[in-house]
Amino acid sequence: MLSLGLALVLLISLVSPIDSCTHQEKDSLLQILAELGLAVSWRSNTDCCTWEGITCNQDRKVTDVYMASRCLQGSISPFLGNLTALLRLNLSHNLLSGGLPLELVQSSSIIVLDISFNRLTGSLSELPSSTPAQPLQVLDISSNLFTGRFPSTTWEVMKSLVDLNASTNSFTGQIPTTPCVSAPYFAMLDLSFNKFSGNIPPGLSNCSKMTLLSAGHNQLSGILPDELFNVTSLEHLSLPDNHLEGPLNGIMKLTNLVTLDLGGNGLNSNIPESIGELTKLQELHLDHNNMSRELPSGLSNCIDLITIDLKSNYFSGELTKVNFSNLPNLKKLDLLYNNFTGNIPESIYSCSKLTALRLSHNKFHGQLSEKIGNLKSLSFLSLVNSSLTNITRTLQILSTSRSLTTLFLGFNFMHETMPDDYTIDGFENLQVLGLNDCSLSGHIPHWLSKLTNLRMIFLLNNRLTEPIPDWISSLNFLFCLDISNNSLTGTIPSALMDMPMLRSDKIAPNVFELPAYDKIPSLQYLRPGAFPKVLNLGMNNFSGEIPKDIGCTSGSGTRVTLSASLASGIGPPARVARSEILRRRCGGLWRHESSASWGTAR
Ligand SMILES: *[C@@H]1O[C@H](CO)[C@@H](O)[C@H](O)[C@H]1NC(C)=O
Ligand SMILES: *[C@@H]1O[C@H](CO)[C@@H](O)[C@H](O)[C@H]1NC(C)=O
Ligand SMILES: *[C@@H]1O[C@H](CO)[C@@H](O)[C@H](O)[C@H]1NC(C)=O
Ligand SMILES: *[C@@H]1O[C@H](CO)[C@@H](O)[C@H](O)[C@H]1NC(C)=O
Ligand SMILES: *[C@@H]1O[C@H](CO)[C@@H](O)[C@H](O)[C@H]1NC(C)=O
Ligand SMILES: *[C@@H]1O[C@H](CO)[C@@H](O)[C@H](O)[C@H]1NC(C)=O
Ligand SMILES: *[C@@H]1O[C@H](CO)[C@@H](O)[C@H](O)[C@H]1NC(C)=O
Ligand SMILES: *[C@@H]1O[C@H](CO)[C@@H](O)[C@H](O)[C@H]1NC(C)=O
Ligand SMILES: *[C@@H]1O[C@H](CO)[C@@H](O)[C@H](O)[C@H]1NC(C)=O
Ligand SMILES: *[C@@H]1O[C@H](CO)[C@@H](O)[C@H](O)[C@H]1NC(C)=O
Ligand SMILES: *[C@@H]1O[C@H](CO)[C@@H](O)[C@H](O)[C@H]1NC(C)=O
Ligand SMILES: *[C@@H]1O[C@H](CO)[C@@H](O)[C@H](O)[C@H]1NC(C)=O
Repeated sequence: MLSLGLALVLLISLVSPIDSCTHQEKDSLLQILAELGLAVSWRSNTDCCTWEGITCNQDRKVTDVYMASRCLQGSISPFLGNLTALLRLNLSHNLLSGGLPLELVQSSSIIVLDISFNRLTGSLSELPSSTPAQPLQVLDISSNLFTGRFPSTTWEVMKSLVDLNASTNSFTGQIPTTPCVSAPYFAMLDLSFNKFSGNIPPGLSNCSKMTLLSAGHNQLSGILPDELFNVTSLEHLSLPDNHLEGPLNGIMKLTNLVTLDLGGNGLNSNIPESIGELTKLQELHLDHNNMSRELPSGLSNCIDLITIDLKSNYFSGELTKVNFSNLPNLKKLDLLYNNFTGNIPESIYSCSKLTALRLSHNKFHGQLSEKIGNLKSLSFLSLVNSSLTNITRTLQILSTSRSLTTLFLGFNFMHETMPDDYTIDGFENLQVLGLNDCSLSGHIPHWLSKLTNLRMIFLLNNRLTEPIPDWISSLNFLFCLDISNNSLTGTIPSALMDMPMLRSDKIAPNVFELPAYDKIPSLQYLRPGAFPKVLNLGMNNFSGEIPKDIGCTSGSGTRVTLSASLASGIGPPARVARSEILRRRCGGLWRHESSASWGTAR
């Protein structure tokens, strides 16, 4: 009996009367594909259910149209609304233009609509209030060119909405009441990178399932509302680069937070002790605010922390209250531009996963501990203007690190002598070295010649003497050498012309694997990716002739600057002020240029 029944079922399904997609479906599809610019490659005489990117259900009706990443250039057809069984439409990562047809948004079948990463324009129309409840659950319209106000009634009929991504468009006006008011399962809202203004939207207290709220890089203002602090399901709260204000105390109710990013706002409170309630926190970004006072001991309770970014605030006091030993997962600690005092806390040296440590431009004093050697993953270290003394000792301690790739120590060791002994050994993987503005005497040290991975050397604004050593041209990866404003003498070695950076036409490589840092301390305004090739020899005491080929061998984009005092006989101005820097282009063209042109404030 059982097997007979099974056979019958099988038989019935095999002889199902519909064996091809309906004419209506095929006609609509052909129309749609034509508008997407695809018609040629689609044969009209076959079953449309077998077409690539098309999936049908048992009734041979189209349920899925998947046409992502196909360089499609057309527009989105309103006929998509004619596919009455369509559940999922993915047209993301194409070059589609035109608007988003109302027919599509009004569809009574679609549950997933992804049209992100296109060039769609126009504003989104309000749906008529008579529209029946929509089944749409996922709507991704991000990374397009949509403008205008965000339609508020749309959300009222989307009672099934779970995930809305409208980021990276140009929506303006206030954010309407959150979808949660009508959609009880609403979980993720991403409105970042738009031009929304006004306050954080109302209706958040209805968001009992919300896990992600992202609205950074808009023009939102006002205080963080109490309603927000009731959304205890929130795991990711990201509102950077707005004009938000207010104390942070309420945030501490959001005990499920994993990410908290309020950087670049107008927050002017302190970090409350109750931050310790956020025991799941991994990412803490409060940079570029007006926050002040000490870091509370409560921070030691956030034991999952991976990133602490507090740069550019007015935090002060010693760091002694925070027990960094409790933060074994900490990878990045950025305290750049604050008012912290005291010693670098010893407990930091137990964060063995630390990859990036930036303490520059505070009021730390005291010396670097040898325990920094415990940080076996440390790749990026920046201690600019930290009252460090004894450059020999400091470099000896750091040189043993095999992980270190980037080291910024400018504005320290005032008036000391650049060590040139063979006790500086190591730095195997160092790529970037900043020892600028230290008024160092001595000369360009020989130990540098062994650091064959160096990409960038900053020794500007010191008092180094003697000629440029010939070995400089053996640093094969070097693409940025700034030794300007020293007292270097002798002729410019012709070996410099052999430097691979000058010979290669390649754009300077994006060497910095700066762990997610957008600014380099001391030279902190430069983005590594955008770094020009630089050979800056300006403001020194060189003599003799400028090597003839210096401009002509340089690869595209290399900036070569030389001291004017060197220009005897070559180029137009024979005598110009020492501070004037000249730029020579291939063909003997000289041009005045400010020495500071590539390091200005943001
Ligand atoms: C799509 O549906 C509309 C009515 O909703 C109809 O006028 C049109 O002919 C249909 N298009 C196709 C290709 O079936
Ligand atoms: C749409 O397709 C892209 C590319 O394959 C994919 O990354 C994306 O997750 C898809 N969208 C949805 C909502 O599944
Ligand atoms: C929203 O889309 C953008 C790309 O347009 C993406 O970077 C972002 O991660 C998405 N947001 C969420 C929450 O997935
Ligand atoms: C939203 O909150 C209001 C007032 O508290 C309540 O009447 C309504 O039922 C809530 N809606 C949902 C979907 O929970
Ligand atoms: C937050 O939730 C509490 C308890 O559920 C409630 O009493 C309070 O009114 C809510 N606050 C806001 C601003 O919604
Ligand atoms: C930060 O504080 C300074 C002075 O205390 C004030 O001038 C500035 O406007 C504040 N910035 C913001 C974003 O509130
Ligand atoms: C830093 O602290 C000093 C006092 O130690 C104070 O005078 C100064 O205003 C503070 N600067 C900032 C930016 O907070
Ligand atoms: C810091 O934390 C570590 C590990 O949890 C603990 O052993 C140590 O006693 C703490 N130090 C202080 C000063 O509380
Ligand atoms: C170095 O820090 C001191 C305060 O500690 C400050 O006065 C000075 O301007 C800083 N120098 C630079 C170049 O930032
Ligand atoms: C600097 O440190 C070295 C040890 O590396 C030491 O021998 C030397 O005396 C120190 N110099 C000064 C001025 O303290
Ligand atoms: C040159 O370096 C000295 C320190 O050695 C510094 O005082 C001076 O301001 C620098 N000049 C320029 C133009 O940067
Ligand atoms: C460098 O040249 C200037 C004048 O241009 C002179 O005053 C200075 O003594 C010279 N320095 C050295 C180290 O030769």
